Parts: sequence; C-alpha cells; structure tokens
Amino acid sequence: MPETIWWKSGTVYQVYPRSFQDTDGDGVGDLPGITARLDHLAWLGVDAVWISPFYRSPMADFGYDVADYCAVDPLFGTLDDFDALIAEAHRRKLKVILDFVPNHTSIEHPWFVESRASRDSEKRDWYIWRDPAPDGGPPNNWLSNFGGPAWTRDEASGQYYYHAFLSRQPDLNWRNPDVRAAMHDVLRFWLERGVDGFRVDVIWHLIKDEGFRDNPENPDFAPHRPGIERFSQVYSCDRPEVIEVIGGMRAVLREYGERVLIGEIYLPIERLVAYYGPDLSAADLPFNFQLLETPWRADAVAGLVAEYEAALPEGGWPNWVLGNHDRPRIAARVGEAQARVAAMLLLTLRGTPTLYYGDEIGIGDVPIPADRVQDPWERNEPGHGRDPVRTPMQWDDGPNAGFSRAEPWLPLTEDHERRNVDALRDDSRSILTLYRRLLSLRRDHPALSVGGWRGLPLDPALAADIFAYERFEGDEIVRILLNFGRTGWSVPLPDGQAWNVLLSTRPGQAGETVRDALTLGSDEGVVLRADPSR
Ligand code: GLC
Repeated sequence: MPETIWWKSGTVYQVYPRSFQDTDGDGVGDLPGITARLDHLAWLGVDAVWISPFYRSPMADFGYDVADYCAVDPLFGTLDDFDALIAEAHRRKLKVILDFVPNHTSIEHPWFVESRASRDSEKRDWYIWRDPAPDGGPPNNWLSNFGGPAWTRDEASGQYYYHAFLSRQPDLNWRNPDVRAAMHDVLRFWLERGVDGFRVDVIWHLIKDEGFRDNPENPDFAPHRPGIERFSQVYSCDRPEVIEVIGGMRAVLREYGERVLIGEIYLPIERLVAYYGPDLSAADLPFNFQLLETPWRADAVAGLVAEYEAALPEGGWPNWVLGNHDRPRIAARVGEAQARVAAMLLLTLRGTPTLYYGDEIGIGDVPIPADRVQDPWERNEPGHGRDPVRTPMQWDDGPNAGFSRAEPWLPLTEDHERRNVDALRDDSRSILTLYRRLLSLRRDHPALSVGGWRGLPLDPALAADIFAYERFEGDEIVRILLNFGRTGWSVPLPDGQAWNVLLSTRPGQAGETVRDALTLGSDEGVVLRADPSR
C-alpha cells in the first residue's frame, strides 16, 4: 500500500514573507499578501506552504531574531491576519508550516532582558553565560556563523553570553528544562491555531558541548569561505544529546496528530541521518541540503542520491531541497537550461521536495547594489550575504512586478517585465509550466510521489552526463533520464519494453512512444512510463 501521509506524498513551498506580496504599500511583503496569493500555490499544485518567520522581531536578522514567539510583527500584520491565512489555506487544502526558531531569541526578548539583568536572575540560566577566560577574553574559541567571535561580554555582570549568529541573537540554554517547557508551550500555541507543522531553525545547534571545549582547527579551511569554517564545529553543535531534545518537540507535535517536524541541518549525510532519531523518534524530515552543495554533474548527483538512499534508516522518509533563503538560487548556480533539469530531478526523486518561491519562474542571480544591502551577514563578511536570493516574487508586468505599490525592499530581476507569473503561466514553453506539469505528474502517479527508487547503471561514456533512475509502485514503472551535459545522447532502452514519454523539459516532446533507444537532447530531461500494453 502506498504511504498516504500528507508530508510524505506532498510537496512543500517556501515563502519568504518579506518578498511574496505586499498589501500595505511599505515595500515589504505581509501575511495578507500571502493569503492573497494562495491561489497561485493551489494552481501550481503544491501541498504545503512553509512561511519563514513573521513573529515580533527587531529584524536584526529579518525575523530570525524573535522578541515574542506568540505575536505577529506589525510589519507583517496581526494574529487575525494569520488566522485568516490559515483558514484560507485550509479551504484550498493547503497545509501551513511555520518556521520555529528555538536556538536563539532576539536580545530584546523579555527572557533575555531578564536573564541579563543580574547574575541572580531567575532566567540567568535560560541563556548561555560564562566567565571570561583567564586572560579576560572569550570563554573559548567558538565563532559566530555571521563572522567574528560567538561570545559577547556583558559589561554589567562581567560575563560573556554565547550567540551562534549575531550578538543580537543570544542562544537559549536547551539543557534547562524550563526553557524546554516554555518552548513546548510556544509550539502548542500555534498548533492550537491549526498549523500543520514546523520547520525548525538550526536544529543541530540546540545543544552545545557541556564542557565548552574549543573547536579543533579545520585543516581544509579555504580563505574565501566564511570565517566560521576556520574551525570544525564539533563542540558548538551536533551534540548527541540534541536528538532527545528534538524527540521532546516531536512528542508535542504528535499530541496533535499528523503534524510534521522538519529540521534545518547542514551536516554530511552520515550525521544528517542520525536526526531521524532512534526508532524514528526525532525529526520527521531532517532537511537534506546535499543538492545545494554537490557539484552539478550527473555522476556526482547520481552518487549522492545513491549514498543518501543507502544511508536512510529503516522507514525514514527522504526529502530534497534545491534552494532556500540562505543559499544561491538554483538558476543562478546551474543556469537557465539546467534549472529545468533540476526541477525535474527535484520533483521525481523519492522523498518530499521543498520548492523555494520564485524558482518556479526561474529567478536567477539578482545583483544587489552596495547601497541596497540589507543582510547583516553581508555587512560582516562581504560576499556571503543572502540578499540576492531574497528578492521579491514577480507577479505581472505592472509597477514593481505586482509585488508592491512602493519601491520593494530589494530589487527585482532586470527582466521582470517578462519573467513573471502572468507572462509565464499560459506559455507552454515556460519553466513555470514545466513546474506545474511536474507537480501534476507527481500527484497523478503514485510511483513518483510514494514509490520506490532505484538507480540505473549506464555505460561510462553516458554516465558522465546522464543520470538515470526508476520509480515504481505496484505495476507502474516510471523511468527518468536527465542530461546534465551540453551534448545530445542516444540512451539505450535495452529491455524490449515500450515507453511512453510522459514529460520532457523540452516543450512538445511528450506523448510519443519509444523503444530500444531514446534521443536525449542537451540539457534535456524526460519522464517515461513503461507502457503496460507493450
Ligand atoms: C537559519 C536561517 C537563517 C538565519 C539563521 C539564524 O540558518 O535559515 O536565515 O539567519 O538560521 O537564525
């Protein structure tokens, strides 16, 4: 029997709320804007929307610095707006996933204000306070992910507090049971309002080494990489005790039935899969970001998929990601033609795919002029900023691409007059049409949504360019052939089987039946289905 649980068979679409749709004319998107655009998501054919943080925040890290977990920031609207959003989403059978940011709060969160007030504060131990090193400097060598030390000295008490990110984002102490209980109540607050799950921010960071040992030097550090990589993060994160903490959150979600816990985790495969937990008791979907980092070559991607499939624990459900608000856009990384192959890959692999808003219209690199830089990381470590991947969604050819009445907070693509939903939705050749067809194919064929996966061996000459695999469920076999290269190939189909072409990344190729061999153009991907009659 195919699995039917929604977060296994479905697809997730990430919305960065500052950039989806502005309704109040301040150049920044808001919750009513998301509600107004839910029809796009339903039309596209995704199943769930994950919304990056919209909680009350001073916006030092654009909402990933939360000052009140149970309030909507006025920039984005009100709790009533949120309730309307969730009702409208559910009316369209769309699930709603929130972004939960438990590792750190804003420096303005009342918990931190109280914690900082004195060494004897009841909430002192809610955060991570340490005495200076003997020389008066930071307690150890841990660095911030956004550049510079991860410790900031508090003049009043003489102690340092730890922050894995900005000094305005102090880390909570998840070893403290009161912190856990308070955060579980935050989860319940939103679960009671009907949310269908959480994407949990930097979940592998929650527990730090009990002894606060120095991180070892990273022998592979390259100077063009972010400074944090100077050391291997073995003591500041990915500690074994974190799995049980995640299990605690998951148990809260299970009080409410089929809610999903997705964990943000940047770790190599062998560590990543530990986050399913013993007996799958921790993250339902430990985010698999491997496609963001693997070289864009058929053999490399084929190797990665096989390795990940083999590493999954029994019953652990896979997932795949091509982009998010922190990493380069797929079209910027691999180019326009390969972005179509990438879409086919994402939506035909086994496991829950997460789409990033704007990828369906092929938004690529958007250069950000120096005077428009927003991301604090870019200010600390130039070249690493994330503004280029957070630019507004482009809806039509009107002013500001239909995103806002006002100048948007970040620039649009230069070609926004043609690269927008309105212009691409009725164009059978567009990437938007391709995404929509892939999503509908996935929905119509259980082999694609919930079926098994197996890689297909290829002649070495082909394997450098082509990645071939099958998905299967019941009697149905679907074969996917993806050409990562710039030359066409004739790919043998040796099993005497006739195959129907269900979809090609090249418009107009579907509908044929092929046997013996398939001619695959450069940058082309196809989905074939074994013809049951022949
Ligand atoms: C996660 C978020 C990122 C944020 C960081 C700190 O990595 O995805 O946007 O800056 O956590 O909260």
